[in-house]
Amino acid sequence: MNEQQADVLVPFGITGDLARVMTFRSLYRLEQRGLLNCPIVGVAVDDWTVEQLIARARESIIGTGESLDENVFERFAARLSYVQGDFGDPATYGRVAKAIAGASAPVFYLEIPPFLFATVVKGLAEAGLTKGARVVVEKPFGHDLESARALAEDLHLYIDEAQLYRIDHYLGKMGLDEILYLRFANTMLEPVWNRNYLASVQITMAEDFGVDDRGHFYDPVGALRDVVVNHLMQVVGAAAMEPPSRGDPKTIKDNMVSLFASVVAADPAHYVRGQYDGYRSIDGVAPDSTTETYAALRLEIENWRWSGVPFFIRTGKRLPATQTELRLVFKHPPRLGFATFQHTPEPNQTVIKLDPSTGVRIVLDAHRADAPGAQAVDLDLEFAQAGGEGPTPYEVLLHAAMVGESTRFTRQDGVEEAWRVMQPLVDNPPPVHPYAPGSWGPEAAEALVAGHGRWHEPWLAGEAT
Ligand code: BG6
Repeated sequence: MNEQQADVLVPFGITGDLARVMTFRSLYRLEQRGLLNCPIVGVAVDDWTVEQLIARARESIIGTGESLDENVFERFAARLSYVQGDFGDPATYGRVAKAIAGASAPVFYLEIPPFLFATVVKGLAEAGLTKGARVVVEKPFGHDLESARALAEDLHLYIDEAQLYRIDHYLGKMGLDEILYLRFANTMLEPVWNRNYLASVQITMAEDFGVDDRGHFYDPVGALRDVVVNHLMQVVGAAAMEPPSRGDPKTIKDNMVSLFASVVAADPAHYVRGQYDGYRSIDGVAPDSTTETYAALRLEIENWRWSGVPFFIRTGKRLPATQTELRLVFKHPPRLGFATFQHTPEPNQTVIKLDPSTGVRIVLDAHRADAPGAQAVDLDLEFAQAGGEGPTPYEVLLHAAMVGESTRFTRQDGVEEAWRVMQPLVDNPPPVHPYAPGSWGPEAAEALVAGHGRWHEPWLAGEAT
């Protein structure tokens, strides 16, 4: 059932912000690449005509910086139609049913606030529209373990887990596929990717921009819920899971969940929260807010591959740069008695940078023939330079939902495991430390890595160590 190509795409909330900044552009680019081949029926409460919707699509696509090819846009616009309706009103689903009559594999894309997910899915089910359908939902999936379970229970009343495609747009980026391939396709990498050779793992997601106009959304959420429990746990999974023995979604997700199950519930004593100066004056942010815009934490994985190797994770807004990376730090080599110069070799590192620039770096220590002493040298491959720009995450994910390829979507048991790991931090958050915008976050985060080297600044495009 879930592998049938979609015969209609139905975005709920098509007049909203996510559609404006992401959906129209992604669908237009799929059209351009010949990957869109069904009608699109937008649904929203606004009293719009289809002409207004097409005008919004045009301005949205141009607004994202895409140069518009009129022929492509004409093909795309011809797919669009619009159904107006209140999501709580059964008559809305009657109109949707009429608009998609005859469809056997509709994809409903709920780009609406999560408190409306169950209302819409119920409306669709009662109108007889969920058979053969896939339902794509946006994060967040709950705000803690209990609410994540409750949300799933509400949705499972009407649809099966296999019909539910949860978007974590980090799964549409370079990540799971590429990290797994790199790890397991290379005999130079796999045998050392474990506690016998590694001292620690660092995952950094740095952003140089702030919360800006998202204060209303961000203040009740904070960094841990916004990006750690979802996006960065996906990176932990890719970095740490065992090789899946098959490529089907079930096998891959089973391996991911099995890894998550070995992650020890996080300890608030190893959690540092920061808030950048100026955050509290943002529109929508409480004047006495203690929400974190920076989070650094330590995770432990209790299995044979990872026991004793701490995973240090940090993310923050208004940091000096925008870059996400995974960095493996190897154990120290012994003192080298034969070396005639004074130099303590740096531990080797393997860095996989994931976003926005992508690439692999291996840091070695070398005594070059053209230099007196020894020093760290980088073996770098910047992927964007080598391979060109790939499709954006939303193109990847919307296309995957339309063809019924569920690997890049999260499953409920994985969502629950991630919340289980983070729940102690949600329940007992330590005090929040201020930090200066443009700095690497609060000083207190240094203590977290004490005894394990230091935080490494991320590898940025074109930069040496
Ligand atoms: C979103 C968060 O899910 O991911 C944002 O809500 C964050 O706060 C964003 O900035 C990061 O993803 P990207 O793709 O914009 O780097």
